[in-house]
Amino acid sequence: MTSAELDRITGTAFRSFMRDWATGVAVVTSTQGAAPVGCTVNAFTSVSLDPPLLLVSLARGSRTLAAITASKVFGVNVLDDRQGELAKRFAVGTGDRFAGTPHRRELGVPVIEDVLAAVVCEVEWCVVGGDHVLVLGRPRWCSRERAGEPLVFFRGGWR
Ligand SMILES: Cc1cc2nc3c(=O)[nH]c(=O)nc-3n(C[C@H](O)[C@H](O)[C@H](O)COP(=O)(O)O)c2cc1C
Repeated sequence: MTSAELDRITGTAFRSFMRDWATGVAVVTSTQGAAPVGCTVNAFTSVSLDPPLLLVSLARGSRTLAAITASKVFGVNVLDDRQGELAKRFAVGTGDRFAGTPHRRELGVPVIEDVLAAVVCEVEWCVVGGDHVLVLGRPRWCSRERAGEPLVFFRGGWR
């Protein structure tokens, strides 16, 4: 493929292609001063086992990203199939998304109660990837919180 041909892949076509990739859904959390912050993500994957490393991709304008780059710590909270409303709450609006969301702190990072699993990381590095920033995290605490079925995001909807 020539680069001219590659350039014909628009953002819309690429987004449409990615709709066929099923993912889990998580809430990435961090702390802005004393305040808990967080947003819904599906761009989350493991990277390495030895040492343990994971990756989240956040839009450059994300307020959660700003808190992560300042505090150098973040959490990833894995949602279950009954937590679609929680995923929505952490994806829209600019108010306090934690109001009415029970949570605790692990290593100073907000962990949402009643999620399937949660991990707290130190930031290893951040690198810009187009309009997003890839955040590589080194897990320092993790917990499988309870049994349940995952919330799955596919073709723009929950399963
Ligand atoms: C299912 C789903 C997955 C999402 N995945 C991501 C993601 O991986 N990265 C991202 O930056 N935003 C993602 N978003 C959008 C953010 O949750 C949304 O823009 C949020 O308002 C960002 O909040 P913040 O600016 O407070 O960080 C996703 C939204 C939904 C509903």
